[in-house]
Amino acid sequence: EKRIWLDCDPHMIFDKGHDDATAILLALHIPGVKLLGLSTVHGNTDADNTFKNALRCLHAFGADPSVLVHRGASVPLLKAAKHDPEIHGFDGLGGVEGLPDSDHPLVRARSEKSQSCRAVEGIANAVQDMIKGGTDGKLTIVSTGPMTNIALFVSIYPDLLDGVEEFVFMGGGVGLGNRSAVAATTKEYNILCDPEAAQIVLNTSVKKTMVPINVTHTAIVTKSIHSALLDPSQFNTENLPPAKTPLRHTLSTLICFFAASYESTFGFTAGPPLHDALTIAYVAFPSLFKCTRRRVDVELAGVHTTGETVVDMWNYRQCDDSWGREGRNCLVAEQLDVDGFFRLFLDCVERCDAE
Ligand code: BDR
Ligand code: CA
Repeated sequence: EKRIWLDCDPHMIFDKGHDDATAILLALHIPGVKLLGLSTVHGNTDADNTFKNALRCLHAFGADPSVLVHRGASVPLLKAAKHDPEIHGFDGLGGVEGLPDSDHPLVRARSEKSQSCRAVEGIANAVQDMIKGGTDGKLTIVSTGPMTNIALFVSIYPDLLDGVEEFVFMGGGVGLGNRSAVAATTKEYNILCDPEAAQIVLNTSVKKTMVPINVTHTAIVTKSIHSALLDPSQFNTENLPPAKTPLRHTLSTLICFFAASYESTFGFTAGPPLHDALTIAYVAFPSLFKCTRRRVDVELAGVHTTGETVVDMWNYRQCDDSWGREGRNCLVAEQLDVDGFFRLFLDCVERCDAE
């Protein structure tokens, strides 16, 4: 069983953060993985909202009360935070039905227990506990938002990096991005929000896997998948069937909202991509992905290009085999078994329903 930590920025409004919720669902129910804890970070919305939304998702998806959420960085290392102005002030309730409010007694109870420490200490304690427990395994740290918390963790606790198995992050792009005029190349939101943090993590000597946006854009919730989500006996139906369970209804409203905002923001009509959920699928079933080891850096000084991932496709820089500053530092996901991923996703929904 792989033990993981998830650092995320769940939000439920417009085109962002809905997929963080699906990553939380998978982290709780995918076979072969134990979620030790969560931390939240600024990103799609402010650090207050991402914290509250993570707590609400944990409750909605049946997490054991021992799984806590630790609040993380409210701003990037150097840049100004990038919440979209139109969402400023929203609490993140929009579009998704059936999640508990943040003042639900059980959500509040988890929130109070979670105040015991902040994100960086939460991650450090989890690594330390594993080391002290003398377990063979190490902690896999998954990131589905800007990497500010992770960069702070590696800077403050370099001595704990030996206890980290791998950093797996949704971010970056190879030939496709989703932000700014250079989005046609490699600028992706999570990296763009805190490029310096991403570079700090990329410089560590720990193994890293990047799940970039050109790959996550293949995990589209099509109408057929949406039908199967609502009712597993209905696949490829012309009209969406009624939801079989409250969980399926909640996920369906999330997908509808995400689909509508993807269409209005990007003109994308096929359905919304479940970007962040792929990181968890990768940890549990890496064989769903084709990956290649590359040198990856982040552009930090460009006039138009800051925040781009620079992926050395030809090993032009002749980097060595280490994971650190001089090496081919990252395993880059290049292809996904899309059907296999959605079978897994629907299976996790089924497991969550059965609990
Ligand atoms: C990433 O940005 C966020 O909006 C999503 O949750 C995902 O983590 C995609 O670029
Ligand atoms: Ca995210």
